[in-house]
Formats: sequence, structure tokens, C-alpha cells
Amino acid sequence: SESRLQLIHRHIRAFPDFPNTGILFRDICPILKDPAALTAVIDLFEEHVRKNYKQVDLIVGLDARGFLFGPLLAQRLCVGFVLVRKKGKLPGATVSVAYNLEYGKAEAEIQEDAVAPGQKVLIIDDLLATGGTLYAACELMKKQQAEVLGCMVVIELKELNGFERLKPHSVFSLVKY
Ligand code: PRP
Ligand code: HPA
Repeated sequence: SESRLQLIHRHIRAFPDFPNTGILFRDICPILKDPAALTAVIDLFEEHVRKNYKQVDLIVGLDARGFLFGPLLAQRLCVGFVLVRKKGKLPGATVSVAYNLEYGKAEAEIQEDAVAPGQKVLIIDDLLATGGTLYAACELMKKQQAEVLGCMVVIELKELNGFERLKPHSVFSLVKY
């Protein structure tokens, strides 16, 4: 029978030249549309966390597609979920870091009281490309003195070497291209 990874793989589409010429865009929307595929993703994440970490205090998800998977995993683990958003979206006191994208710059932001010093967090997103976005989230956690246990993504684009950029943090990915 089909493995869970095969099921997930079958629910990822590729669109050439989106959003720019030369980019092959991996689209996870079919995973969200298929309950069995989405369950397989969260099951595999949950199994990885239970096997590798004794204590997790929070799941931290990245704007916007980390928000699709993070809360489901957090609920499975009976822990809270925290949002890292693009700048200007969160009310109250915030902490931000600038990061580079393939074209231009962006800023990631969290609420100042989102994580407490010493809390153990796992950071989740849909996809690892250059690693700039996850790196920025790790920097935010460092600023707040939280401990990053690791990063988790559905898809890893190997040729962009995001894995190297994130060292010494580990990245767990389900599907690699
Ligand atoms: C995409 C993707 C990751 C990030 C990966 O998000 O969902 O968050 O880029 O790229 P990187 O590893 O090179 O940083 P995007 O910035 O397109 O935002 P969106 O989720 O709001 O569409
Ligand atoms: N798919 C989705 N998001 C992305 C990609 C991709 O291929 N590359 C960078 N961000």
C-alpha cells in the first residue's frame, strides 16, 4: 500500500515561473484539500517530535503557510502556538528582525510576550528554500532567550542549501527536492 510520504508527495504540485521567471514553485494547497494527506503530515511531525524531544513548550509558526500546519501540531502535542508575522501585523509591543529574500528585504516580528526566556520551541513552516525566513525566526527566539530545539518543514529545496544556513539548528523535512 501507499506510504504516508508517497501520499504527501502526490499532493504537492509544481508551477514553473511563479512568482518569477526561473522559479519552480512547490504548491502545498492540495495537501490542505485532502484530509488524509494533511493527517499524514501532522502524524509524521508528531512522531518526529515525540521520538526526539522530551519537552516542548511551544510551536512557533511562520507567516503565512506555517500557520496552516503549526496549530494542528501544537494541538496534538497539547502545547501553545505562537505566530511570527511579517512586520506591522501584530498589536502591542513587538520584537523584529530584518532578513534578506531572493529579491529585496523583509522583516519578521513577534509579540514581546510571546515566548519567555528558557522556553523550548520548535519552529515550523511549509517550505525551506534559502533558509532566510527560518533563520530570522531563530534570531527572534534568540533575542527573547528562548531555546530553539529545531525547525520542521514539509518541503526542503536541497539545492538552495538552507540547511547549511540554519546550522547549528537542525531541520526536519518530509519531502526533499
Ligand atoms: C515562502 C515559504 C517560506 C519561505 C521560504 O514564504 O512559505 O516561508 O518563503 O523561503 P526562504 O527559505 O528562502 O526564506 P513567502 O515569503 O513567500 O510568504 P507567504 O508564506 O506569506 O506566501
Ligand atoms: N514554493 C513555495 N514557497 C517558496 C518556494 C516554493 O517553491 N520557494 C520559495 N518559497
